[in-house]
Amino acid sequence: MRDDELAGQVALVTGAGGEIGSETVRALTHAGACVAGVVRKREPPVPASARDRILLLHADVRSEPDVRRAVRAALEQFGKIDILVNNAGSRGPTLPVTRLSLDAWREVLETNLTGSFLFARECLKGMMRRRYGRIINVASVVARWAYPLRAPYAASKAALLSLTWTLAQESGKANILVNAICPGPVAGEAVESVLAARANRLGISARVMRQRFLQPSALGRMVTAQDVSRTVLFLCSEAASSITGQVIDVSAGYGLYPGI
Ligand SMILES: NC(=O)c1ccc[n+]([C@@H]2O[C@H](COP(=O)([O-])OP(=O)(O)OC[C@H]3O[C@@H](n4cnc5c(N)ncnc54)[C@H](OP(=O)(O)O)[C@@H]3O)[C@@H](O)[C@H]2O)c1
Repeated sequence: MRDDELAGQVALVTGAGGEIGSETVRALTHAGACVAGVVRKREPPVPASARDRILLLHADVRSEPDVRRAVRAALEQFGKIDILVNNAGSRGPTLPVTRLSLDAWREVLETNLTGSFLFARECLKGMMRRRYGRIINVASVVARWAYPLRAPYAASKAALLSLTWTLAQESGKANILVNAICPGPVAGEAVESVLAARANRLGISARVMRQRFLQPSALGRMVTAQDVSRTVLFLCSEAASSITGQVIDVSAGYGLYPGI
């Protein structure tokens, strides 16, 4: 992508202070876009050179009033939203279904699925009117598998793929493209806390857990947040203008082989 390929475009990124989110804000800004970053606690770095093109908005993605307020504030500042990256995500507990509380189930579903629905609905209003839009939902490779001990997470990501397909069909005639990215394990703090919680629950060492986690990777490694942000840029680019309703794994070939 050219450095200025997204100049004049406006993106809204949820979970903008997280590992993938902050890298996505950086990449979109670098490509020339203005970015409304939705944050809760953590914030992404805002370089002085991009200060007038990055707006940080505090919102809980589960809250309808918060989502409406954030979209309204982004529109007031930048006048439109061309790109929505639904990236905020909750990992939820590492527990079997028999021990899951309803509150924990709801927290994950409401963050990963309902939050994406709310932002898509609010952003689509303007996108439909202007007959242009790109929506990118950040799901996970586990959306397609059984994932013991992480049922709400896997179920929420599977449902997010379904939402992606339906949104793509409903909004395609208005020239709005809706796709999902499924990252595999992304090297960083988020995956380290997943590994630690899983090792603890299974009663195995961190070293063995890491080996097991890398085993399904065809490339024998994790991916980077930058691998994900580059795919976001691709899906926003002219080169992807006929791609919609697709699920793109950015996973180093995670889970290709069932290990028989
Ligand atoms: N890391 C991986 O290996 C991996 C693999 C597959 C998919 N993913 C997906 O990639 C996305 C980004 O995750 P990440 O790896 O960058 O993890 P992360 O650093 O923990 O980022 C998650 C982000 O979501 C935000 N968030 C969570 N609940 C929220 C809520 N109710 N309202 C507003 N914001 C909320 C967090 O905000 P605060 O921290 O400020 O609360 C944080 O910015 C997630 O959807 C995740 O499921 C990650």
